[in-house]
Amino acid sequence: MRILSGIQPSGALHIGNYFGMMRPAVALQAEGEALYFVADYHALTSLHDPKVLHQNIYEVAASWLACGLDPAKTVFYRQSDIPEILELNWILSCFTSKGLMNRAHAYKAKVQENQENGKEDLDFGVNMGLFNYPILMSSDILMFSAAKVPVGEDQTQHIEIARDIAQKFNRVYGEILKVPQVVLEKGVKVLPGLDGRKMSKSYGNHIPLFEEPAAMKKLIAKIKTDSLPPEAPKSTEGSILFELYQAFATPEQTEEMRAKFEKGIGWGYVKEDLFQLLDAQLKEPREKYKQLLEDKSIIANYLREGAEKARPQAQILLKKMRAAIGLEL
Ligand code: TRP
Repeated sequence: MRILSGIQPSGALHIGNYFGMMRPAVALQAEGEALYFVADYHALTSLHDPKVLHQNIYEVAASWLACGLDPAKTVFYRQSDIPEILELNWILSCFTSKGLMNRAHAYKAKVQENQENGKEDLDFGVNMGLFNYPILMSSDILMFSAAKVPVGEDQTQHIEIARDIAQKFNRVYGEILKVPQVVLEKGVKVLPGLDGRKMSKSYGNHIPLFEEPAAMKKLIAKIKTDSLPPEAPKSTEGSILFELYQAFATPEQTEEMRAKFEKGIGWGYVKEDLFQLLDAQLKEPREKYKQLLEDKSIIANYLREGAEKARPQAQILLKKMRAAIGLEL
C-alpha cells in the first residue's frame, strides 16, 4: 500500500500540524510504502521571498526528520525535484472543471475576505497558483498512485478533489490513475489554538512545534480559561486546555485529568501539567531539529537521494498517460 503526504514550507509548523498530520504519517511508515515530501511549489503561491523560502524548505525537511521520518524506510523528497508533477498538473487541469476550483475552501475564503473588506474585485490577491492549488496537490498524489493520504482535516476537501479528477480521467482513458483515500486518525479533531479558534498560524494563536521550553510555557499561560476559583468543579467540555491535553495524553492520563477537573483544580496547575506533557514528548525532536539544521548538506543529500528514487516512478506513469492520451509518437 502506498502512503503519501506533503507539507508546504510556508512557515514554522505548530503542534496542531504535528498532531493532525505528522504524527499519524510517521506512524504509518511501518504499514506500507511511504512517500513524504516538501511541497515547495505550493509555498510559492504565497511566499515570494527567496531567502525565506530557501530556509523554510530546510526547516520543513528537518521537521519531518526530527519527528521520526526515516529516509531508509520512506521515500523522502522535494516536490520541485520531480518536474513530472508539473507536466501532470497541466494534463489534470484539462480534466478539472473551473467550477470545482471555485468551490475549493482556500479560494472561497479569499473571496469572502475580499467581500467583507468591501473590495470591488473579489479575486483581489488571488494568483492562478492559489486558484489551481488543488490541481497541483492532486498531481502530487496521483503521480505516485498513492492509496492513502494522511492529512489534517482542513485538507480533506483537496483529497476529494483528487479523487474526482482521477475518476474523470479514468472514465475517458481507462483505469490508469489510482483513486486515493483520505486518512484521518481516529478521534483526531482540529486542535484549538490559544484563543479557542482552530489552531492556525494565520490566526497567530498557535504553539510552534519546536518552541523553546520557556517560550512554550509563556504561550500556554495565555490559553483562555474561565474565571472559576481553583476548588470549583470544572467542565472538560469546551475546555481548550483539556482538549490540548487529551491530544497528547494516554487514555489513562486523560482520565486522571478528567478526575482533577471534576474535583476542582486551579488553571495554573492544568497549564503546568500540559506544559510537562508537551515538553516530555517534544524535547527529543526539538534537539534533533536543531542539530539537523546545523548541517544543511545532510538534509539536501537526503532529499536528493529521495528524488532519485521517486522520479523514475513518476516517469513511468507519465509515459503511460501520454500514450493513453495519444501523445506518444
Ligand atoms: N496542501 C497541504 C498542506 O498545506 C500540503 C500538500 C501539498 C499535500 N501536496 C500534498 C498534502 C499532497 C498531502 C498530499 O498541508
